[in-house]
Amino acid sequence: VVVVRVTVDLAERSYDVVVEPGARHQLAALVAARAPRAAAVAIVASERIQRQPWFDLDPGVASSVVTVPDGEGAKRLETVEALCTRFAEMGLSRRDLIVSAGGGAATDVAGFAAAVYLRGVAVVHVATSLVAQVDAAIGGKTGVNLAVGKNLVGAFHQPLGVLCDLETLATLPERERRCGLGEIAKCWLLEGHDANELRERGEAAWVAAAVGLKATIVSADERESGARALLNYGHTLAHALEAEQLGGHEIDLAHGEAVAIGLAFAVRLAWRLGRVAESEVARHDAVLDALGLPRTLPDGLSHERLLAAMGRDKKAHHSLSFVLDGPDGFELVSGIDPAQVLAALEEFEGER
Ligand SMILES: NC(=O)c1ccc[n+]([C@@H]2O[C@H](COP(=O)([O-])OP(=O)(O)OC[C@H]3O[C@@H](n4cnc5c(N)ncnc54)[C@H](O)[C@@H]3O)[C@@H](O)[C@H]2O)c1
Repeated sequence: VVVVRVTVDLAERSYDVVVEPGARHQLAALVAARAPRAAAVAIVASERIQRQPWFDLDPGVASSVVTVPDGEGAKRLETVEALCTRFAEMGLSRRDLIVSAGGGAATDVAGFAAAVYLRGVAVVHVATSLVAQVDAAIGGKTGVNLAVGKNLVGAFHQPLGVLCDLETLATLPERERRCGLGEIAKCWLLEGHDANELRERGEAAWVAAAVGLKATIVSADERESGARALLNYGHTLAHALEAEQLGGHEIDLAHGEAVAIGLAFAVRLAWRLGRVAESEVARHDAVLDALGLPRTLPDGLSHERLLAAMGRDKKAHHSLSFVLDGPDGFELVSGIDPAQVLAALEEFEGER
């Protein structure tokens, strides 16, 4: 049984992330230890989450379940207003607590409501999707979407604790699982592990490794100036692929699949730029294959459009920037010649 407790080290705002089958049963102990004055708890979850057999959360003090829409549809300012209204009706005070239960959409919107209700109340995330466990619940980024773009309104609000219950993953739909596997592949590659270790150690250990990496990076760099940028490995092309998808192009990639393709591309670009040996490309391919993730470009995409979309990526400040592996390890590389990226795309397409 994998049991991991990782500390996100942020001085007086430090907290633990517990990765364990049945971790949700530690909620009452966590509330007693971290929010001893809390007299009321609002548990924020969608109906779909509330229907799961493991939805039996007990914070140890009086609690009410507050229902939000399921998935991405919850990430709207409207939901934040509805949540804060319910919190006020419940008489939730600054010493009380909000608990999110669900995937990244739930942790994002409940976390944001917690950040703004009464100018900030404490939040605990019970992360139930692979994406929430390895990524969204950790690090304090919260927010909602606007009609004009994703995650445009938000706040940094670190939780008091995160419970990643491996038992809940049993009910996670396969496509949602693949979303998380993309992030796991990213972390596995950033950590320098190979496909053999991946097969030997199994899913619980993958989650633990990804949680460990995210916790380490957030501890070192809470607000994404340096090290945190590494977590965007594979995401430059992934975001461009997703932009094409939104633009109505006939591709149907889960976020994790887009990230996987982005990882395969990034290592090929690093190879083309003379930064890594061919064995590094092979290591990436083997890890992606072992996780059953795609690593070739979907059919019929315009390379020029992908290039333009990668230039627009909000994390690429001026010219083209990619997180790339290299002689000094992984780093954010800026000022990459678009012609090289285009040539790498052509070659990547040729592998299909
Ligand atoms: N704040 C951050 O740092 C951060 C990082 C990564 C992603 N995100 C955000 O997270 C969101 C994606 O998260 P996600 O992939 O978890 O999607 P999601 O929250 O939309 O969940 C996907 C679906 O899976 C369901 N689900 C979740 N856990 C389940 C379980 N154990 N059993 C059955 N069904 C379950 C959800 O109810 C939903 O229908 C995006 O909005 C993204 O922007 C935020």
